[in-house]
Amino acid sequence: MWKNIVAAPADSILGLTEAFRNDPNPQKVNLGVGVYKDDAGKTPILACVKAAEKLLLERETTKSYLPISGDPVYAACVQKLLFGEDGEVVANRRAATVHAPGGTGALRVGADLLKKFMPKATVWLSSPTWANHKGVFATAGFPLSEYAYYDPATKDVDFAGLTRDLQAIPAGDIVLFHTCCHNPSGVDLDQGQWREIVEIARERGWLPFLDFAYQGFGIGVEEDRYAVEQFAASGLDFLVASSFSKNFGLYNERTGALTVVSPTAAESTVAMSHLKTVVRVIYSNPPAHGGLVTATILSDPDLHRQWLGELAAMRERIVAMRSALVDGLNARGVAGDFSYIKRQRGMFSFSGLSDATVAWLRQHRNIYVVGGGRINLAGLTSKNIDYVCDAIAEALRS
Ligand code: LMR
Repeated sequence: MWKNIVAAPADSILGLTEAFRNDPNPQKVNLGVGVYKDDAGKTPILACVKAAEKLLLERETTKSYLPISGDPVYAACVQKLLFGEDGEVVANRRAATVHAPGGTGALRVGADLLKKFMPKATVWLSSPTWANHKGVFATAGFPLSEYAYYDPATKDVDFAGLTRDLQAIPAGDIVLFHTCCHNPSGVDLDQGQWREIVEIARERGWLPFLDFAYQGFGIGVEEDRYAVEQFAASGLDFLVASSFSKNFGLYNERTGALTVVSPTAAESTVAMSHLKTVVRVIYSNPPAHGGLVTATILSDPDLHRQWLGELAAMRERIVAMRSALVDGLNARGVAGDFSYIKRQRGMFSFSGLSDATVAWLRQHRNIYVVGGGRINLAGLTSKNIDYVCDAIAEALRS
């Protein structure tokens, strides 16, 4: 069957990880995939996760199926993180949450749900966006279009272009946003800008879909959900795809959620019934472990506090690496102002490195960067920072 079929290209992000793993050079550095590493270059299991797993090992009594939508305790924890402990959306039962396998699974469940009821919609993505957004929504059958977002000249949001584009999007289309820690640029919208966007959504009537994969990696768990709170307060319909891969370090447990917010509880019940039909034919019901771990942590005040501390430590280490990179490049006399790297939020920086430089770094220094120049700051450590700064300085000179 396969002899006349051309092989598919490697994934632009996960394919890079494969190449990195196969690279025997001991000095290799992976600044590609968005996975947190500590200063020893390891992706740790959080201590709060280990503690919760210990409790689960003692308490767990069955491996029977979860409900199609997942554990209701997990869904309640997801909603509290999204809308706050006393969120009006939660009190009025306006949100329907299903446990999905990771952020990608949540996006795909949302895409398949929307395709059923908005078959003619176009999905609008920020320019640029995470490469997999295109794959997920195109595979679900949606035509794609882009709205202005990042301005390479100012290294900031092109807000005039963004609002111009959002105002021209017709009612009945779907607009995907990065709630915080924009991937790949690291450039976020501020609170006033979010308020304007909510107003445009209200006036124009398109459907907002928020991708929220990095809650707590921007400023903090509460600060990072500002956009979710604003859309919730608007009373509009919207969706949120959230993930615990990064903020709980549960990458391989595929622990995410899709939340559909509706104006009324009655509509939310209808949304949940259709969510279940979508989930049933893709993966039937979710894997249990990651949801049980996060629900255990979030339901226990001590473990919850411990998690917030561990999350803050991850966030702060990345901020420190941003400064170390900027200082390192300046110290080597690399031409240009790199201070924008310090202003960006989350794991990533759109470094401004060209594809030619990215290729040079991989070929000559075994440093792996995603095409387009996205750097994962969490891949930098006190041990490899000088090596990376030397390499970038040399690449930009050659
Ligand atoms: C990334 O952007 O590197 C992460 O979200 C991992 C992935 O699945 O691409």
